[in-house]
Amino acid sequence: MIWTKSKPSQNAPATDPQAAPPAHVAIIMDGNGRWAKSRGLPRTAGHKKGADSLRTVLNACRSAGVRYLTIYAFSAENWKRPTDEVSDLMQLLQHYLHKELDEMHKNKVRLRFIGDISKLNSKIVESINEATQLTAGHTDFNFTVALSYGSRQEMVRAVQSLAKKVEAGEIKAGDIDEDMINNALDTNGLPEPDLLIRTGGEQRLSNFLLWQSAYTEFYFTPVLWPDFGTEHFTSALQEFAKRERRYGTTGEQT
Ligand code: IPE
Ligand code: IPE
Ligand code: MG
Repeated sequence: MIWTKSKPSQNAPATDPQAAPPAHVAIIMDGNGRWAKSRGLPRTAGHKKGADSLRTVLNACRSAGVRYLTIYAFSAENWKRPTDEVSDLMQLLQHYLHKELDEMHKNKVRLRFIGDISKLNSKIVESINEATQLTAGHTDFNFTVALSYGSRQEMVRAVQSLAKKVEAGEIKAGDIDEDMINNALDTNGLPEPDLLIRTGGEQRLSNFLLWQSAYTEFYFTPVLWPDFGTEHFTSALQEFAKRERRYGTTGEQT
């Protein structure tokens, strides 16, 4: 089972220069539309600028020793947006993948996708499969893109897959435990996020990693995603280093 909880050694105080970074950072990249609107630009301009922030944060993660980055790129609910915006977002995503794939491969980044990809168009599915296969052997850094992703929908798929095994007589209902559920989720093989950052000022999860973030530290910032840079990311890591993760125990026990 690869699914692991963070080690208590990651709870070192901020004053400790050796404080371990979070192993896994998850980001809800929000605020692109407002960033564009405040400049009198179309929403897509915000999404384009947001792609630059992503590049910056990926590099910042690698420099800081973060091993896993998971980003919320497009939610299951985002399909409800105007068709033009959805198609612009999909084009941008395809373009980003195409442009960044070689560099990621060279840098030994393993790319994964979570979410219901059956809803995406065949060209994007092709790019996703290519990127996943090309980088499958890498272990230096793990970059996961949540696309057409909703945590509740992911859980429904997981429950259905376990129920099928019960129906087929492969397992008994009473055998189902946390590990089995973890393994049935799209995030199978990824550790739990240690730190979840949401930009753009909202303080909610919007259906992102509900099961997986049971003991994740949350960091909400009003900074809009296209404005989010290395200095903001560093502030989030500094805040994380101050948190005491107790997992239900007393402060004395940790
Ligand atoms: C996040 O920015 C990107 C996606 C959801 C795809 P938004 O597009 O939600 O930007 P705001 O929240 O409207 O400013
Ligand atoms: C969450 O942002 C989804 C992504 C960042 C991809 P939204 O902008 O869609 O979330 P709500 O609608 O404000 O909750
Ligand atoms: Mg938003």
